[in-house]
Amino acid sequence: MADGYDEDVRDAESLYDYPFAAYRPVLNKVCQIVSTKKGSILDPGFGTGISTKTLYDQGCELTGIDFSGRMVEIAKKKMPQAELIQWDFSKGLPKLKTAPFKWIISTYAFHI
Ligand SMILES: C[S@@+](CC[C@H](N)C(=O)[O-])C[C@H]1O[C@@H](n2cnc3c(N)ncnc32)[C@H](O)[C@@H]1O
Repeated sequence: MADGYDEDVRDAESLYDYPFAAYRPVLNKVCQIVSTKKGSILDPGFGTGISTKTLYDQGCELTGIDFSGRMVEIAKKKMPQAELIQWDFSKGLPKLKTAPFKWIISTYAFHI
């Protein structure tokens, strides 16, 4: 889903479709809470980095984990200075340079 992800989210959001209805307000709220407090951030399941890119552009120190090699590749182009690691978080966390983190954020990556 990596290659068309940004467009798919935009389309689903504009149609108010599950699961991305209200996607942007959800992400904006997460970014707003975190960016006012500052500090290092871990984002498990960052995808193409739509939400994390906002924080990255504000100068936040960002670490991300995603098991999709293609998602990592796309996000690295947007956020070259972030530590973005290909890893399955269901196995726990890998060794990370920045840990411990001030914040752990995640959007649309953990499901029951
Ligand atoms: C629906 S996307 C959400 C991406 C982004 N957080 C957003 O809000 O746009 C879910 C992401 O979580 C990643 N993911 C799901 N399960 C994972 C796991 N066990 N370990 C690492 N990444 C995972 C997928 O590869 C995908 O990039």
